[in-house]
Amino acid sequence: MKIVIAKNYRNMSRLAADQVIEQIRNKPSSVLGLPTGHTPVELYHDLVLAYQQEIIRFKKIVTFNLDEYAGLESGDKRSYHTYMKTNLFNKIDIQSKNIHILDGATKNVKRECVRFESEISRAGGIDLLILGIGMDDHIGFNEPGSDFKSRTRLVKLAETTREANSKYFGSLKRTPTAALTVGIGTIMEAKKIILLADGKKKAEAIARAVNGKIDPQVPASILQKHPDCTFILDKGAAAKLKS
Ligand code: PGA
Repeated sequence: MKIVIAKNYRNMSRLAADQVIEQIRNKPSSVLGLPTGHTPVELYHDLVLAYQQEIIRFKKIVTFNLDEYAGLESGDKRSYHTYMKTNLFNKIDIQSKNIHILDGATKNVKRECVRFESEISRAGGIDLLILGIGMDDHIGFNEPGSDFKSRTRLVKLAETTREANSKYFGSLKRTPTAALTVGIGTIMEAKKIILLADGKKKAEAIARAVNGKIDPQVPASILQKHPDCTFILDKGAAAKLKS
């Protein structure tokens, strides 16, 4: 894997945006895999700016989001559907038929997960997948212990993940206990992967993923085996890397 260390969060986001812009310019019908959470907020901001400045268009872009909370309706203000609309989709010219986000409120989880996987295949696979990382090294919502061959499925969230996300739900009690997520096998099939992390609180997770052994207890460590994976980090997240 390639490691890029940016001066700060702003620069990390800028470097990531440059990569996405290059991808879209090279292939205007690219299939993108997209994350949510705090980390990509500025990346999305930069992509919106690039669209407004007519540097890129999203008309032919196809997207797949990594995950969604189980039990949340897409219209819920805390859902990742809403997050994506607010941060990106409502501000660009993407076609709604090209947006794919798992339905967390589905009555038939199995069918929903199979549908998602088959839509990724039908789109020709993911060209560029952007990832965040959890403090417990989760990617998507693949928590420690996830099978490296796992596919899209319903998962239980780790307590550390629920605690980190409880700020969006008002209390830990109200934070969902489960989510639908693409699998690690699904992630590893993306042609190109960029993982973003900022802040000292991610430093241990990044060091385990980059310098540690490849271990299902450290889901992000499997990225060491991906043929085209770049970690773009700020100085805080890179602080514990062995040089
Ligand atoms: P964060 O989440 O960007 O809000 O830190 C990342 C993740 O949990 O994958």
